[in-house]
Amino acid sequence: MIIVKNASHLAPQISQWKREGKTIGLVPTMGFFHAGHLALMQEAGKQCNKTVVSIFVNPRQFGPGEDLEKYPRSFDRDAQLAKEAGVDLLFAPTPEEMYPRGYQTSISVQNLSKGLCGQSRPGHFDGVATVVAKLFNLVQPDTAVFGEKDFQQLALLRQMNADLNFGVDIIGHPIVREKDGLAMSSRNQYLDRDERKTAVCLYKALQHGIKKIAESQRIPVVKLIEELQDIVNEGQGCRADYIAVVDPATLESQEVAQKGALVALAVFINDKVRLIDNAIL
Ligand code: PAJ
Repeated sequence: MIIVKNASHLAPQISQWKREGKTIGLVPTMGFFHAGHLALMQEAGKQCNKTVVSIFVNPRQFGPGEDLEKYPRSFDRDAQLAKEAGVDLLFAPTPEEMYPRGYQTSISVQNLSKGLCGQSRPGHFDGVATVVAKLFNLVQPDTAVFGEKDFQQLALLRQMNADLNFGVDIIGHPIVREKDGLAMSSRNQYLDRDERKTAVCLYKALQHGIKKIAESQRIPVVKLIEELQDIVNEGQGCRADYIAVVDPATLESQEVAQKGALVALAVFINDKVRLIDNAIL
C-alpha cells in the first residue's frame, strides 16, 4: 500500500493508473477505522481496480466548541487496517496542504444542508461538501463509497456531484452495527461503559418506529416522534437533539409516517457525546 501525505505526490500515481486504464474507487474518511469504514473499503475494492482511502480530520466541518482537537486519531493502526483491507493508496494530507494560507473557497449545497444535523451544526455540511469536492478533484475517482449512517451527508454529496458535474458514481453502503445494534462510529470511543450500554437507545427507537409502521402502515409523525422520544428518554442521560421523519430523497419533513420514509435522530449522551443514526421505515 502506497502512503501519500502530499497532494503533489498523488497526481503522478493517479495519472499512471488512468493511463493504464485502471478504475479508481475512493473512500473519504476521518480515520480511526472501525468495521464500517472497512466495509466501505471492501465495497470500493469490488467496484474498482484501485482503491484510494483518504484520512483527513477536516477542520472546516467542525464548529466552534466541537471535538476537532480531541477527535480520535490513530494513523499507524489505520494504515495497518487499510493495508489488510486491500487498499492500494492511503492519502493523508495535512490541514496546511488542504487549506493553504489564503484559501477562500467553500461549496454549499443549499437546501439539503438546512434540516436535521444542519440545524444544530451550522456550516458543517459546507465543510463536508468542500473537502469532498477537493478530494474528487485530487483523486479523480470513478466511484466513491459513503456510508448511509450519515444519510444527510450522502444525499447532499450526491446532489453536489450532479450539480457540479463531477460524474463520480456514488455508492451508498448500509449501516454497519455492533452486536446490540449501535451504529459503529469513531465517536463511540468517547463513551464509558455505562454510556455505551445506554447508547443503544438510538437503535431501540428506530426499531420501534419500524415495528409501528409494519403494524399500522400510516401514523401521524407527531405521534410517532413522541413515542421515539420516550424510548430515547428511557436511556440514562440521553437527550434527543432531533428526531425527524423525512422524505429520503428531499429530506423534507413528513406529516404522516409510512413505509419508505426515513427516520433520523441525533442524541446527546450525558451532554458529552452526540450520536446519529437512521433507518428507512
Ligand atoms: P467518517 O466519519 O470518518 O466516515 C467516513 C465514511 O464512513 C462516511 O461515508 C461514513 O458515512 C461512513 N461510516 C461511518 N460509520 C459507518 C457505519 N457504521 N456504517 C457504514 N458506514 C459508516 O463522514 C466522514 O468521515 C466525513 O464527513 C468525510 C465524508 C470523510 C468528509 O470529511
